[in-house]
Amino acid sequence: MISDRQLFLRHLAQTSENPMMLEIERAEGVYLFGHDGKKYIDLISGISVSNVGHLHPKVVFAIEEQLKHYLHLMVYGEFIQSPQVSYAKLLTDHLPEKLDSVYFTNSGTEATEGAMKLAKRVTGRTEFVSFFKSYHGHTQGALSLMGDEYWKHAYRPLIPGNRLLPFNDIHAIDQITEKTAAVIMEPIQAEAGVILPQPAFLPEIRKRCNETGALLIFDEIQTGVGRTGTLFFFEQQGVIPDILLLAKSLGGGLPLGAFISSQQYMQLLTHDPVLGHLTTF
Ligand SMILES: Cc1ncc(COP(=O)(O)O)c(C=O)c1O
Repeated sequence: MISDRQLFLRHLAQTSENPMMLEIERAEGVYLFGHDGKKYIDLISGISVSNVGHLHPKVVFAIEEQLKHYLHLMVYGEFIQSPQVSYAKLLTDHLPEKLDSVYFTNSGTEATEGAMKLAKRVTGRTEFVSFFKSYHGHTQGALSLMGDEYWKHAYRPLIPGNRLLPFNDIHAIDQITEKTAAVIMEPIQAEAGVILPQPAFLPEIRKRCNETGALLIFDEIQTGVGRTGTLFFFEQQGVIPDILLLAKSLGGGLPLGAFISSQQYMQLLTHDPVLGHLTTF
């Protein structure tokens, strides 16, 4: 009989030459259990996905209940779906007033794409400022923002006009100008090795964005949903973004992301063209 291990190598597209190939039979709480009965502590948590642990009873209950009603109905944003609107209400109840409109996506990188499109619509500008060593996803818009050429070079040309700045360098902030559509940043750089912002860094960037009319996008795809001790990291800094990106743990293990902004901005996606951002799921 062909083992799963062999099928994995034969029929799954590989993304590295040395996959870990740990065979997991089940996962619960902080533990993963291998076929051989071996128990592992999951320190990586699906890369910041399982914030409440694997198979949390409330997550399992919510999924089971929903299965009795419906799975998929119709392309995003047409039908009123109770779980979707309740989740949007719950999120916005915990966010500052101006972050009152949620666009749910399938992944983090799609939340980045949606935010980039929204920033272009709001400002009429095309330049994005991002940071060295940043990570915002692997689709081509998000890749354009990425701070490390290693990940980008094989896929050029990407979206032109991106400006990369060093993280935590206050002197570089004057490169945010009237041409900048948005500054997009992880308020704590995650993949870079958990780099915290210096105390003045985020407030100064907020100030410069206000001066130049650039939007501020916080990518809290890793830091959000409780991972840093508050629901969102920006709460600890008192700096409010114009667009907030969430994903990973947002779906409790199901694929879900979101870009969140104001009603005023989001309504730009309703016209010229209609369906300004669209996804089946
Ligand atoms: C900060 C950050 N932004 C965006 C993404 C992309 O999310 P996804 O892999 O769901 O597309 C990631 C994924 O690791 C991330 O850490």
